[in-house]
Amino acid sequence: MTDRYAVVGNPIEHSKSPEIHAAFARETGQKITYEKILAPVEAFISTVDAFRGGGGLGVNVTLPFKIQAYQYAAHRTPRAVLAGAANTLRFEHTDGAVQVLADNTDGVGLVRDICINLGHALTDRRVLLLGAGGAAQSVMGAILDEKPASISISNRTASRAHDLAGRFRLIVPGVKVDVVENRQLIAHKYDVVINATAASLNESLPLIPAGAFARESFAYDMMYGRSATPFLLLAANAGAVTSDGLGMLVEQAAEAFFYWRGVRPTTAPVIATMRKQLVAANRAGAI
Ligand code: ATR
Repeated sequence: MTDRYAVVGNPIEHSKSPEIHAAFARETGQKITYEKILAPVEAFISTVDAFRGGGGLGVNVTLPFKIQAYQYAAHRTPRAVLAGAANTLRFEHTDGAVQVLADNTDGVGLVRDICINLGHALTDRRVLLLGAGGAAQSVMGAILDEKPASISISNRTASRAHDLAGRFRLIVPGVKVDVVENRQLIAHKYDVVINATAASLNESLPLIPAGAFARESFAYDMMYGRSATPFLLLAANAGAVTSDGLGMLVEQAAEAFFYWRGVRPTTAPVIATMRKQLVAANRAGAI
């Protein structure tokens, strides 16, 4: 039987994960299948139980189930524990029993894309993280590991930013973690601004003044789409170098593939192919 994997979410129809993992499997010669599973919002556990019971070896988990996925596992990698959320589950079938392990590859995916693919160091940089939900929580640990000078968190609901900062403040000594109220952002300049809010999902702009970007700063939106998000347009107009989150999507998938198969796929060709498809879709949409 071919080894089975899947991505579970709601909604799921737009997920690109099946094509990404199919490309990885072709490149590395791994025989796997990878499907999309729509889980009803109230039935994440039974949906994953059924896939696992049918012999599935692992799932990626996307919105809105990353916290439930974390709770579903009996064992967790340290970075999943730090995030308190999981995007990857591995099922180890031995002697009729199944062990569930959880990982979170989002943070390493983000940092690899920014630092390696795009060549923007985070070390000693003043980083601004917009958002304090699950997406922000998942990437804090990996950003801290790069030892930036500081990470400032700004969120529409300030109390969530304080909670997030409190959780991560003492994790890496020497890195300042603070909260900046939206209205105070104008008084600061950041080298790297990362949008981890869900604002781009509905084409809206998180609260950030153009003046928060330092000259030649780098702006990264963890979302991606056919065209630039409002956040990236604002950043570009303010003189920042920009990138969407397509590379992060592929990098987090590569790390999940490695977690399951022990083989690391090459990401650059997959990112390039998907970028071409996005550009083509954008052109077609513009006609
Ligand atoms: P996710 O797992 O995608 O992070 P989440 O936990 O619901 O989802 O968090 C969404 C984040 O995007 C939050 O930081 C949210 O701000 P609030 O905490 O104030 O709700 C932020 N967000 C969503 N829509 C936004 C918008 N239009 N403008 C600014 N922030 C927004």
